[in-house]
Amino acid sequence: MSSFPNLDYKPKMPQRTDHGIGIIGAGGIVNYAHLPAYKKAGFKVVGISDQKVEQAERTAKEYGIPKVYRNLAELLKDDEVEIADIAVYPSAQMEIVERVTVAGKNLLCQKPLADEYAKAVRSVELAEGARVKLAVNQQMRWDAGIRCARLLIDQGWLGTPTYATIQVHCNTDWSLWPWIYQGKRLEVMFHSIHYIDSLRYLLGDPAYVFTSGSRAPGEKTQGETKTLTVWEYPSGLQVLIDACHSTWQGDTYAIFRLEGTEGVIKGTIGLMYNYPTGRPDTLEFMSKRNPDYWFSARLESMWIPDAFVGPMASLMCAIETQSEPETSGRDNLRTLQVVFAEYRSIEEKRAVRPEEITTY
Ligand SMILES: NC(=O)c1ccc[n+]([C@@H]2O[C@H](COP(=O)([O-])OP(=O)(O)OC[C@H]3O[C@@H](n4cnc5c(N)ncnc54)[C@H](O)[C@@H]3O)[C@@H](O)[C@H]2O)c1
Repeated sequence: MSSFPNLDYKPKMPQRTDHGIGIIGAGGIVNYAHLPAYKKAGFKVVGISDQKVEQAERTAKEYGIPKVYRNLAELLKDDEVEIADIAVYPSAQMEIVERVTVAGKNLLCQKPLADEYAKAVRSVELAEGARVKLAVNQQMRWDAGIRCARLLIDQGWLGTPTYATIQVHCNTDWSLWPWIYQGKRLEVMFHSIHYIDSLRYLLGDPAYVFTSGSRAPGEKTQGETKTLTVWEYPSGLQVLIDACHSTWQGDTYAIFRLEGTEGVIKGTIGLMYNYPTGRPDTLEFMSKRNPDYWFSARLESMWIPDAFVGPMASLMCAIETQSEPETSGRDNLRTLQVVFAEYRSIEEKRAVRPEEITTY
């Protein structure tokens, strides 16, 4: 085993970067994350559509996208589009997946894949039936701190994991997503889903989850905005996710920490210090292999937009090699089982096994 870690955290790129991308939904996340990331990566966006055509036109002008489609049918008819990149609300995603799969195009869906577990299962089955690739935009797996943690675990620096936590206390301005106020589910469904997917990526699937969900006095959202979650694994590994979006004192913190039999990995999640501008993550670790000192890595890439290259690059690699994308729809069903298990836990005040979620 090397006494130096390999922290090559950048995404594996496809052989060709010119797979044609057609975007559906020209909203906030496409403008401040998808398109800046694709520009950096040299990906080819051939056209864009939105139910508000003027919104698609504005985005096309700003990013020099050649085509604006009047509707989804026009996008699906375009042979240049090999990948449909969907970024609409989760309740609307499955109907679009139905039409894209009939057209035989590959898909990158935004997270959450669906607002109901059964709809997510149907989306995955549709893609499998049509023999197209479906990936989910769970891009936190490519966030520098998280990917480095995974590299360190794979290289044995942590040993057997015994404890992990992600703790984020910040002041989130929900008006960035006006549509989010009406939903009865919020924090786990739209935010902690990233931590759930990343922790699954680092540590595998939990056996049990227990979640408390709540809101701070005076909040205007219907859904929960602060959650405390504990996961339990058969090995004795425990996970704590502590997310609170109403920290008014100005002392935001967003940390992750992993402890194992051989080492400790800890860092900060830069994006959450000033969303969506953010700052680079930090990462430190120590291991019994070098017990006398801590390593500190200087990470330069950002969750937004840089990590958004990852899911698209992985989907392109899967198309080229006839393999599964890292965040395939099938894998994402496990993330969604944990999401909905956490909601069942909040409702029923008990620890829930993710496998209990078959319909929800
Ligand atoms: N880190 C992340 O991955 C991340 C961050 C923010 C948002 N998101 C997800 O991205 C999705 C969009 O969020 P947003 O913040 O961009 O919202 P937004 O409201 O800014 O944009 C959504 C756009 O989709 C369009 N739209 C809605 N339904 C449509 C349909 N059926 N056909 C065509 N266009 C349609 C709307 O007109 C709007 O322009 C949400 O599911 C959200 O969870 C992900």
